[in-house]
Amino acid sequence: MRINGTLVSAEEIEQRLAEIGAEITEDYRGKDLLLVAVLKGAFMVMADLSRHIALPVDMDFMAVSSYGAATQTSGVVRILKDLDQEIADRHVLIVEDIIDSGLTLDYIRRNLEVRKPASIGIATLLLKTGLQRVPIDVQYVGFEIPPDFVIGYGLDWEGKYRNLPYVAVMEEE
Ligand code: IMP
Ligand code: MG
Repeated sequence: MRINGTLVSAEEIEQRLAEIGAEITEDYRGKDLLLVAVLKGAFMVMADLSRHIALPVDMDFMAVSSYGAATQTSGVVRILKDLDQEIADRHVLIVEDIIDSGLTLDYIRRNLEVRKPASIGIATLLLKTGLQRVPIDVQYVGFEIPPDFVIGYGLDWEGKYRNLPYVAVMEEE
């Protein structure tokens, strides 16, 4: 596998997260907002997006793993780390790095809905087009990208490349 150029640059990410952060600031003003990032991939988006939200937000983290092949989701999700806090009557915004089939997020959303939050929103840096196997209502999308396998800015290939400051396509040599 090799890295093929830059798909979304560090500057483009920074600028788009600033725009989304401003939107979130308007939309959630006066509300009790809890940002929930899905580890590990979303840690970078969480850190940068949250700094553009001018509200006293709370943060929590969930870790999940999906069974199946390395570059594909099976839809069967296991919770490795649950939220530390209760979310009943709070406004939850799930922060994601990427939505591919949407199966992981669909599972997480249904899991959180049972806990009766005031609302559940979704913000994702990347949305792969044409691949959603379940309809997902996403309020904030950074970039729509083609259905290639990408790395960087939190996204890994076999655990590596999460630290790249930009998003790149990974392809067969
Ligand atoms: P989904 O369930 O198919 O929407 O994807 C679930 C997870 O697979 C994402 O949260 C990522 O962790 C991972 N993933 C999906 N596409 C990519 C990719 O292109 N690069 C790296 N990880 C990916
Ligand atoms: Mg993820």
